[in-house]
Amino acid sequence: MIIANWKCNGSKKMIHEWVKEFKGTYISSDELYLGIAPAYIHVEYLADSLTSNDLDIKYGVQNVDLSSGARTGAISLDMVHDMACSFSLIGHSEMRNIYGETNENISGKLDLIDKGLDVILCIGESAEENHNSKTKEVLKNQLQVLKGRNLAENFTIAYEPVWAIGTGQTPTSEQINEIHNFIKDVVQSSSGSNAVPKVLYGGSVDENNAQSFFNEDFVDGALIGGASLNGNSFAKIVNLYNGVD
Ligand code: PGA
Repeated sequence: MIIANWKCNGSKKMIHEWVKEFKGTYISSDELYLGIAPAYIHVEYLADSLTSNDLDIKYGVQNVDLSSGARTGAISLDMVHDMACSFSLIGHSEMRNIYGETNENISGKLDLIDKGLDVILCIGESAEENHNSKTKEVLKNQLQVLKGRNLAENFTIAYEPVWAIGTGQTPTSEQINEIHNFIKDVVQSSSGSNAVPKVLYGGSVDENNAQSFFNEDFVDGALIGGASLNGNSFAKIVNLYNGVD
């Protein structure tokens, strides 16, 4: 599973270029869950620009609200479905840190898993927590929202150390593998369904380091920010994941 997170980037002009670059480099694969989450306003424009019979691409949003109505600035599940989006990120560290999203908000949004939305829950420790060897404790706390829930195939976790996002720094691939194994164990023992979720790695993934992460047993794909803004780089990473480079 490979997901592009465009954050608050992009324009129609950028999308025009991106599509040309992506199509020129990408080697299609039927097996892969390949998703792109642009800004809400660009979802339909991107989907129209990319349309082609041999491309199976899912579109998604970077956030969704748990209900509709008097919630200024929010986007509801029905609106997400109206845009033909299949997935949403939830709990990205930028939503937690800039907009004050809490585990309680996130827990409410997880109900959307049962309403046909593919959900990618983002978790990760800060630099300080990492330096103080608190990584596992922090992740365990963030994973509390899953306690007793029935998780299905449409639920995925993205491990994104906050200090690795947009910095060019990453944990080693062995460290990532160990943390992913830990996350899978914690979720399996605390969820209602004993499900083992897919775990993606996110944080400064690029075409040069992606393969080392993909080689690890417990890495089920990647969530890619900066490097996904270039259609050529993003396609190269997807091709590496598909083993067709
Ligand atoms: P990055 O962002 O790839 O630019 O580090 C990843 C993310 O925040 O999802």
